[in-house]
Amino acid sequence: MDKIVINGGNRLQGDVTVSGAKNAALPILASTLLGSGEYHLRRIPRLIDVATIRRLLVQLGAKIVDDGDSVVIEMKRIANCQAPYELVKTMRASILVLGPLVARMGEAHVSLPGGCAIGARPINLHLTGLEKMGAEVKIEHGYVWVKTKRLRGASIHLDVPSVTGTENLMMAATLADGTTRIENAACEPEVVDLAQFLKKGGARISGAGTDVVTIEGVQQLYGVDYEVMPDRIEAGTYLAAGAITGGDVLVCGCPSSYLEAVLSKLREAGAKLKEEAKGIRVCGPKRLQSVDVKTSPYPGFPTDMQAQIMAVMSLADGLSVITETVFEGRFGHVAELRRMGADIRIQGNQAVVQGVSRLTGAPVMASDLRASASLIIAGLAAEGTTEVSRVYHLDRGYEQIEDKLVRLGAMISRRKE
Ligand code: UD1
Repeated sequence: MDKIVINGGNRLQGDVTVSGAKNAALPILASTLLGSGEYHLRRIPRLIDVATIRRLLVQLGAKIVDDGDSVVIEMKRIANCQAPYELVKTMRASILVLGPLVARMGEAHVSLPGGCAIGARPINLHLTGLEKMGAEVKIEHGYVWVKTKRLRGASIHLDVPSVTGTENLMMAATLADGTTRIENAACEPEVVDLAQFLKKGGARISGAGTDVVTIEGVQQLYGVDYEVMPDRIEAGTYLAAGAITGGDVLVCGCPSSYLEAVLSKLREAGAKLKEEAKGIRVCGPKRLQSVDVKTSPYPGFPTDMQAQIMAVMSLADGLSVITETVFEGRFGHVAELRRMGADIRIQGNQAVVQGVSRLTGAPVMASDLRASASLIIAGLAAEGTTEVSRVYHLDRGYEQIEDKLVRLGAMISRRKE
């Protein structure tokens, strides 16, 4: 297995362009199950998670080819309705095929995702939503079976604004009989991107991006050309890397409107942020000030940036309290940051970070995707060498991260373990 080796201490400088958003690409790829025409998708990032959903789609009957910068998908006939354990266990987001399969085929047989490194992550809201739309749902042998003649529109209130829950139900409702109303829907930009994609193919959706999404079912959806939105979490990760190294980095291709909560925290911590024609420029001071951070659904501070901001706070001046409200167990990076000299205590869902004046490189292990980004950020600012192992987590969500960081002046490389 590969590991990433970083020699810290370099100030990052230059431009970096963000890739397409993983969390928009995955539901958009899944929703190609809804239409029988040809889809041309651009800015699909080359990531392990994308490869996993592509494998799943092929298994379900899709023809997929890469054509220049497009991924071309045709789903003339769905060969079966099954998402097997082998694929779902490697990527929870495989559950995103559930809604489209039931909508198009009236049937789905999808392995239940288990817990994962960041928490229990149930899918009860996906399932009760489908039940409300008239589907029969059974759980047996680790699989969820969903069956219906045709889904019908319903009024669904989500207890929590689940992102993939909203996406699954929105996709399912596009081909349902009648109108579906999802209340307390997730407002994440990736939900809006999916809605825009579906609308381009003939779906009737309004309210995406607010907490009430209304979907009027149609008979059929069509293949379209679509460019996936940029990855705001990748953008935030490079901004954090620029800030912690006291660098001067222009993060290109991601509008600042997607990142307000992150920008405002970095600004409060003393980084200079400027919107330019090509992107967002961050200039870090010699040392940042500590700030408190609380994660919450969009437009709040994203849980997917919590680990990265913690790395930044571990070197800031003062005490910072980081509260995680979205996932109960998302502190896997803490023990590893401590190995690099960070002073962090966990109290329930809060991490109390006493900024230290230096971190020192160490061998560390990534426990999940964003934890791995956090360790890389810490390694860039630490004295000496940091070796991050279990980098497959990183490859699930960051396209060419070492290349992009090398171009910014980081000393980082990938080695075989
Ligand atoms: C998505 C993102 C992930 C991000 C997360 C929160 C994708 C592919 N993944 O994950 O990167 O960290 O949103 O922004 O887009 N919940 C329930 N029941 C459910 C569903 C969720 O109780 O049926 C709870 C979860 O346990 C969690 C909260 O809702 O506490 C939010 O989870 P959710 O928004 O569903 O996360 P994902 O969609 O899995």
